[in-house]
Amino acid sequence: MALVTIDLALCDREGACIDSCPHGLLLRGQDGLPVERVGAASHCIRCGQCVSVCSKSALTNHLLAGQEFQDKSTFDRAADPLAYIIKTRRSVRAFQKRAVDKTVFKSLFDLVRYAPTANNSQKLWWLVTLEAESTKNFAALALEWLIRSYYPNELEKPWEGDADPVLRGAPHVVLCCAPEEYRWGATDAAIAVTHVELLAASRGLATCWAGIFIRALEGWPPLLEALALPPGQKVFGGLMLGYPRFNHRLVPPRKPAAIGWR
Ligand SMILES: Cc1cc2nc3c(=O)[nH]c(=O)nc-3n(C[C@H](O)[C@H](O)[C@H](O)COP(=O)(O)O)c2cc1C
Ligand code: SF4
Repeated sequence: MALVTIDLALCDREGACIDSCPHGLLLRGQDGLPVERVGAASHCIRCGQCVSVCSKSALTNHLLAGQEFQDKSTFDRAADPLAYIIKTRRSVRAFQKRAVDKTVFKSLFDLVRYAPTANNSQKLWWLVTLEAESTKNFAALALEWLIRSYYPNELEKPWEGDADPVLRGAPHVVLCCAPEEYRWGATDAAIAVTHVELLAASRGLATCWAGIFIRALEGWPPLLEALALPPGQKVFGGLMLGYPRFNHRLVPPRKPAAIGWR
């Protein structure tokens, strides 16, 4: 079964769908048109990014056909600013090369101090790569783990050439750390990282949870060593961060809220 159909008359060959797909299911074909990988439909997670990021409405994803994509230009941001950010935030996987200034990071973390922590423990701290070169070096180490763990066969890897499937070429990675024995570390970090994610979206920055990177940290000692954490500290969560290359025009569909009442 074909996963996507591209309207050739509308497609501007910008490649936003190709660069935004989390699983690399779309490739740049001859003349720049997106072409789906063999078996793409069975790997699609229905995130809707390929549709939402297309500025020309040229792509149909058949697994999402008939489902509602909302045009964010129709939302009244001023009427409910938080609802606007919650709905329009997207995981971004295509970044500009431009670095984010240190003062921007400081202002984000200064606000995130007000997020809840278990028993008001406030044990979290942040580790940020400021230079793109440093981010790239960590991504390369994480990639070693990814290849060894999942793609020992070069031909099966779902990314092209020297693309970065771990941090997607983001200029920065933001890691949320706490003492390793702290029992609420993962929960506090998830709350704090989510606060960063929403704040960043409200300021025109782009983020994406760095799950592969976090898993690599757990499974690949050379990456952990390179990070040089203070003794007894652990990374509990993290994000790629930068400025977005593309605008996500549409909000993808989601399942209805599942609720039980008593
Ligand atoms: C814990 C967690 C880990 C994730 N890790 C990755 C990752 O390593 N790479 C990636 O591209 N996306 C990652 N994501 C992003 C999800 O794929 C994304 O949130 C989901 O597809 C929904 O898309 P949206 O965030 O644009 O709404 C992660 C998300 C979460 C919550
Ligand atoms: S819905 Fe998501 S996973 Fe599926 S092809 Fe589009 S971008 Fe890729």
